[in-house]
Amino acid sequence: MLDINKFDKIIVANWKLNGSKDFIDAFFNDLNPEVINSNSCGIICPPSIYLDKCFSKNKNFFLGAQNCSQFNSGAYTGEINAIMLRECNCNFCIVGHSERRMNFNDSNNDVKVKSENLIDNSINPIICIGETLEQKKNGITKEVIFEQISSSLPETGSANSVIIAYEPIWAIGSGLTPNLEEINSIHSFIKKEIPKSRNYKILYGGSVKSKNSKNIMDLENVDGLLVGGASLDPQEFIEILKV
Ligand code: PGA
Repeated sequence: MLDINKFDKIIVANWKLNGSKDFIDAFFNDLNPEVINSNSCGIICPPSIYLDKCFSKNKNFFLGAQNCSQFNSGAYTGEINAIMLRECNCNFCIVGHSERRMNFNDSNNDVKVKSENLIDNSINPIICIGETLEQKKNGITKEVIFEQISSSLPETGSANSVIIAYEPIWAIGSGLTPNLEEINSIHSFIKKEIPKSRNYKILYGGSVKSKNSKNIMDLENVDGLLVGGASLDPQEFIEILKV
């Protein structure tokens, strides 16, 4: 398993349910491997069926999956387990993305079990947390995050193996982001005030674009970015990787 503490910055592309073989050919042809230096960690998370294709085209990037099963084998039609992801050269896996929590009922406990399976197979989990707009308006963002972290971080994880991604749900795909002070203060809360996630690497995600990535990345408590829509445009993604 990779020791994530060796990286100064971690930039993740979450392609969600997008991409094709032609898209992958064009994407990697446009990417310049030099945008990744030895202290940075660039991770591409395609739909799992394309992991092998991305691996064959890869230039200096790590591969990640967008989800894995909480089960390790058996009669679970349609599932993909952590062992299979490892065989497909995955070093990372996103777990508990809000789209999975909302559309596929992934619970905090599911996220924890999936993360434990990943760690058992030397894959670093990227655990997503974040509040809804209503929770933000009600002033309970910190309580929500505290609960998500307490219940979904695996007991077997550590600051060397698990990454947290703070993604306010209302910021995902909306073009809206919290202001810089808000991002820094939530990241500081996670790193310094929640015992279970003390000193963990924290990525920010939600409407990251080339035009806001540098300001967010420059914040003291931000260790990287989780990029959705903007990661599908190679030129845009290259600019984000340069921060
Ligand atoms: P977005 O998505 O960058 O398109 O807002 C981020 C994410 O869902 O991880």
